[in-house]
Amino acid sequence: LTAGLVDRFGRVATDLRLSLIDKCNLRCTYCMPAEGMDWLPKNELLTKEEILRLVRIGVDQLGIEELRLTGGEPLVRADLVEIIAALRAAHPELPISLTTNGIGLDAKAAQLAAAGLSRINISLDTLHEETFAQLTRRDHLPRVLEGIKAAYAAGLQPVKINSVLMRHINDDHVVDLVSWALEHNYQLRFIEQMPLDADRGWTKEGTVTAEEIRQQIRGSYTLVPEPAPRAGAPAERYLVFPATVTEEEALCCPEKALGVVGIIASVTEPFCGDCKRTRITAEGHVMSCLFSTTEVDLRSLLRSEADDETIAKTWAAAMYAKPRAHGMDRTGLGEKDFVQPDRSMSAIGG
Ligand code: GTP
Ligand code: 5AD
Ligand code: SF4
Repeated sequence: LTAGLVDRFGRVATDLRLSLIDKCNLRCTYCMPAEGMDWLPKNELLTKEEILRLVRIGVDQLGIEELRLTGGEPLVRADLVEIIAALRAAHPELPISLTTNGIGLDAKAAQLAAAGLSRINISLDTLHEETFAQLTRRDHLPRVLEGIKAAYAAGLQPVKINSVLMRHINDDHVVDLVSWALEHNYQLRFIEQMPLDADRGWTKEGTVTAEEIRQQIRGSYTLVPEPAPRAGAPAERYLVFPATVTEEEALCCPEKALGVVGIIASVTEPFCGDCKRTRITAEGHVMSCLFSTTEVDLRSLLRSEADDETIAKTWAAAMYAKPRAHGMDRTGLGEKDFVQPDRSMSAIGG
């Protein structure tokens, strides 16, 4: 059969990121326009059965080892708990994680854990209600905080928190977020904003960089890179110590760390060379990269008489063409190496 999801540069995709729905109940400015998007009609979303079939093909024939469910906002999908339960029944050992904005999680966290979800990542860019409302265009900070608590209480640990920093909006909330995450035992990750906003407001100069983030944290804490290998993960991880611990002590005594903070530096320190991700959009298209300009439609095959092997081969062919890198670091928008994709983050799945 196929040799797995190998590309022209020898990378092997073993992580599947599958979007369950394009809809969302927030309007984060780095992702969506205020008015929302033209949501896919329900019959264009992959059904639970189609999702199960694709994941089975991925795991059995293409070497998929990990599954992440994304959106839009996956909690908006009414059959989310059933989907997870069915995936878990079919794949007892598969790590299954969820990336969510946390709204509605207070009511669902325990069910998700019971259904077999392994882990959860929750987006939260600020702890200030006004900034939250400015950034997400909705007044839901208290609901997100309740959701985070519920996920932790349900044992979905480690709870990872994703914070996208935006210039002049929440770029000075770094230490605030770090202190809060350490206090609650959440694993915080800062994310450099990528040009995947529907409003196309991104500029390279406006990007709050990993280096700036490290400097801000170092204003209040001692920070050293975690010695463990990164293994293709987007986040570079750092151990955080009280400022009274010197860097030398920190390097020799990791047990003194207060916790871990990650930085996902997609723009200034790209990690495309070690990428092991394959993506499927909510309507069942393979995207070989967040920034790929071509997509391959698996839903039509799923809804035809195509057998599993045909679907596997089509998926593998789509991945073979994966671009080498996104080029955001080398050029700015509008220059020839880098073109902003037509799809916004919510329509790709993060
Ligand atoms: P963990 O295994 O929990 O660490 O997952 P993750 O960090 O890969 O997943 P998550 O869904 O929380 O994504 C965090 C951020 O990383 C989001 O902004 C994603 O868009 C970004 N990200 C994930 N995969 C890629 C990728 O292949 N390329 C780039 N540039 N960013 C990515
Ligand atoms: N750049 C970087 N990260 C983004 N996310 C959404 N839009 C962007 C963007 N333009 C993040 C969300 C969520 C994850 C899936 O992707 O905050 O945590
Ligand atoms: Fe919704 Fe996530 Fe986009 Fe925010 S970033 S609007 S929570 S899909």
